[in-house]
Amino acid sequence: MTVKIFDRPDVQEFLKVVSGLDKADGNPRMKEIIHRLMSDLFKAIDDLNITPDEYWTGVAWLNDLGAAGQAGLISPGLGLDHFIDERLDAIDAAMGIDNPTPRTIEGPLYVAGAPESTGFARLDDGSDTDGQTLIMHGVVHDADKKPMPGAKVEVWHCDTRGFYSHFDPTGKQAPFNMRRTIIADENGRYKFQSILPSGYGVPPGSPTEHLLSALGRHGQRPAHIHFFISAPGHRKLTTQINIEGDPLINDDFAYATRDGLVPRVVERNDEESIHANNLNGPFAEIEFDIFLTSLVDGVDNQVNEKRKREAA
Ligand code: DHB
Ligand code: FE
Repeated sequence: MTVKIFDRPDVQEFLKVVSGLDKADGNPRMKEIIHRLMSDLFKAIDDLNITPDEYWTGVAWLNDLGAAGQAGLISPGLGLDHFIDERLDAIDAAMGIDNPTPRTIEGPLYVAGAPESTGFARLDDGSDTDGQTLIMHGVVHDADKKPMPGAKVEVWHCDTRGFYSHFDPTGKQAPFNMRRTIIADENGRYKFQSILPSGYGVPPGSPTEHLLSALGRHGQRPAHIHFFISAPGHRKLTTQINIEGDPLINDDFAYATRDGLVPRVVERNDEESIHANNLNGPFAEIEFDIFLTSLVDGVDNQVNEKRKREAA
């Protein structure tokens, strides 16, 4: 039996009541958003004939998702993080702002408070011996495309098992392993030594994975390295690079891959390069320059303080 009740005046009135639109108290913006979202949900239940069983399965899934702390994990998986980036790009395009270094999603696994150093840092503590040594470096540029000494480069990535410190289910990693803050030197240069990360996968058996499986999708990401780059007078840039050659570069469950964010990985095995980097064997080298953009009317029109999570 198919019925449609969404357009009934009493249902439309009910949506206003549910959203507090008939009350003076509360937050008008919240009322506006909830009224729209609840209306869209009521209409979907009506149009798709969503059964009580299907509805309550969804509620149980939301409880599982919240209990697992995974709302931030499914958000990129359902393309919302990427959609928000596309909107920021469109806003910039409408304002005539060019982003020479593209933005891409933050992901849910940043931790504030990583150790800070100037010019150079080693990110890994040497305990992940499966990883190929990586040297990554570049110049941070200001909005005039000149080197930007003092720019802050926050970098984080996972290990060869795909686990991030602070979120490692084995508890194996020390706090802030593979997480550092590097202040660009007097020439705007940043450089770090680490290991090449592996791809990442959402936790097996998790509510996030359950939904993706039901959609016939996987929860894997290609190997990647995250960055926040900030400097006075400039907008904070949130981005990532992918490790060239990863088979999932164009099949990322979080949709973070973008043109301009897959730098070359150069294999170095000559003595001179090895010596120049104080290493004792071959390594992979990535060069990646970063270009920041100016504040808009003196403010960062994109900054997202709420997502800053402090170290536990
Ligand atoms: C997720 C994990 C990541 O490492 C990332 O960069 C983006 C998303 C996730 O689990 O949703
Ligand atoms: Fe990540």
